[in-house]
Amino acid sequence: MGRLAVVTGANKGIGFAIVEALCKKFDGTVMLCSRDLERGQKAVDALKQKGLNPVLHQLEISDQNSINKLAETIKNEYQGLDILVNNAAIAYRRDATDPLVKQAEDTINVNFFANLDVCKTLFPLLRPHARVVNVSSAAGMLKQVTSPEIRQKLTNPDLTEDELVSLVNEYLVDVKAGVHLDKGWPARPYAASKVFLSVLTFIHQREFNKDSREDIVINAVHPGAVDTDLTNHKGPMTIERGAQAPVYCALLPPNSLKPKGDMVWDDSKIVDWQSLE
Ligand SMILES: NC(=O)c1ccc[n+]([C@@H]2O[C@H](COP(=O)([O-])OP(=O)(O)OC[C@H]3O[C@@H](n4cnc5c(N)ncnc54)[C@H](OP(=O)(O)O)[C@@H]3O)[C@@H](O)[C@H]2O)c1
Repeated sequence: MGRLAVVTGANKGIGFAIVEALCKKFDGTVMLCSRDLERGQKAVDALKQKGLNPVLHQLEISDQNSINKLAETIKNEYQGLDILVNNAAIAYRRDATDPLVKQAEDTINVNFFANLDVCKTLFPLLRPHARVVNVSSAAGMLKQVTSPEIRQKLTNPDLTEDELVSLVNEYLVDVKAGVHLDKGWPARPYAASKVFLSVLTFIHQREFNKDSREDIVINAVHPGAVDTDLTNHKGPMTIERGAQAPVYCALLPPNSLKPKGDMVWDDSKIVDWQSLE
């Protein structure tokens, strides 16, 4: 039975470099997902030029039909999934003039809710020893939240996915009411989205720990400050360097104990997500 790795938002940037590295290091098929097939095909062609052989699949993570089609392909052609890298994300530029409510809704919808939909649909297909990587960010640390009450809720070791979704909706209501800063939420929607994605990672590891499938590991990763379209090419690191920690987490050997449900930095070391320094 062939093994399968899936990387979302992989037609460019860090996702593209993750696919390239997995093509070299992973013993199985690597699926390069792109919401636009033309852009995806160009990315696949570029890797084929290097002698690598990723498989292209369309995936718009905000579209449940598109996620369902990917799930069908995985079921029918691979019978299961061994690596899932949730890399796709958006970020409004700091000087964006769109209303904050729109920025918050768009960013939370893609970076949190769409990733959650991908997880809900694809997690049933994960095989024992599967590895899931959520590409989070340095912006997704607890210290972005200034309210002690909200921090307490987010760090509650019994917090459920439904309770987290309620908190995310509470954040959106507070943004609409113009009170999110007073309430102590992160200032930027991107940071809020990544804080929520980090917390989702910890919740999902707790669920995997109770799963009948053995040894499924999920981590959140800060890939570093990378030179991509998302950072307007301000990050100093190459995409290959940015891919290192996500790939490390994707290829954790069977039964490794750490990192597991952790926040991993670009040097592949675990950091304390709750640290307020
Ligand atoms: N670059 C950094 O310094 C940095 C730092 C911390 C964290 N990160 C995180 O690293 C990850 C990759 O970022 P990047 O810097 O490589 O950004 P990027 O170059 O802008 O690439 C983002 C990728 O996500 C895709 N995407 C966006 N929305 C999507 C959707 N709704 N459905 C499917 N695909 C979608 C994009 O597709 P299109 O080409 O079609 O738009 C693109 O392939 C993100 O999670 C980001 O938050 C980056």
